[in-house]
Amino acid sequence: MPLSGMPKFFEDLISWYSMEALALGHALGLRAALLEGPGTAAQIAQRADADLRTTDTWLATMVAAGYATHDKGIYRVDADQVDFLDGSFTGVDTLALLEFVPAMGVRFPAVVDVLRSAGAPPPDLYGADFGDAVGRVGAPMYASWLVSDWIAADTGLLERLSRGCTVVDLGCGGGSAVRVMAAAFPESTFVGIDRNREVLERARRSAPGSAEFRTTLPDHYDVAMVLDTFHHLDRPDLVLSQLREGLGNDGVLVVAEPAYEGDLDADTASRASVIGLTAALLYCDVEGRGESTNTHISPRDGGAALRRALQDAGFTTVTTHDGAGGYRLYFAR
Ligand SMILES: C[S@@+](CC[C@H](N)C(=O)[O-])C[C@H]1O[C@@H](n2cnc3c(N)ncnc32)[C@H](O)[C@@H]1O
Repeated sequence: MPLSGMPKFFEDLISWYSMEALALGHALGLRAALLEGPGTAAQIAQRADADLRTTDTWLATMVAAGYATHDKGIYRVDADQVDFLDGSFTGVDTLALLEFVPAMGVRFPAVVDVLRSAGAPPPDLYGADFGDAVGRVGAPMYASWLVSDWIAADTGLLERLSRGCTVVDLGCGGGSAVRVMAAAFPESTFVGIDRNREVLERARRSAPGSAEFRTTLPDHYDVAMVLDTFHHLDRPDLVLSQLREGLGNDGVLVVAEPAYEGDLDADTASRASVIGLTAALLYCDVEGRGESTNTHISPRDGGAALRRALQDAGFTTVTTHDGAGGYRLYFAR
């Protein structure tokens, strides 16, 4: 709902409260109960096995926030908001985001401690629930665009994957990209790598037969993917050198990064940039802090920094593709 005349600060505050209310409704089962169909507060409370006062206040919040409507005491989801609330929105898993919001919130004091210090974050700062939510956020994006738009931009790579080759996905999270690739390229085999053992467990539970998940890179592979992960690496220089060695002479590295330019005007032109920049502050840049903060490459450094790092690691040819979903693809050989 447009809030004409509302000071920006309070508009932002309202948006934050809306997300908190959505996250709460998701955790309590009220979101799912509302989606079951129109109903009174008492009916929706019963569906969710929640108490009536909480349900009544939550439904009023959803009406005020613009996610639900009501007529004579009957609540229903606003027609324009259904795909955000049921998780069918193309490009991002909105339900995983509703788990990400509270999982980030509980880490806030620890993040402040890390940012105040000169050192690395504790190894388990982003583990468990957090890694699980993050690992699912991008799944619809990979389902929609990883093969048809991102990989298809490099015909040589597409042919090679179709013929069959060995592929590693470094920073694979819950394995959503590996699952999409394994379905599209049945002749190829896949190894998902992540340092978060909990997300690897999740990835293993739904792993296709042609995939394994582990914490260390194998010695040799034909294709390496680093998807939405490069800006999380504390030692991107070492990782790129290791990938260069593992790929051999005719291997291909695919890096997908948010398409920041490293230019203040360009990177702040859209208000949506607030998401990526704040994510960098709360998560990506923090995870990328190793013993030294000098090696990490932040989204703010832009594509030129990534290109330099690729060159330094011995990749001699780099082509790019501005892919669907706001990601820039780098194909390095
Ligand atoms: C933003 S998530 C992206 C996950 C997945 N690629 C996706 O797009 O859904 C970044 C992932 O990188 C992993 N990661 C960060 N640093 C890593 C490192 N040095 N080695 C392996 N994995 C790392 C994190 O545990 C996390 O799962």
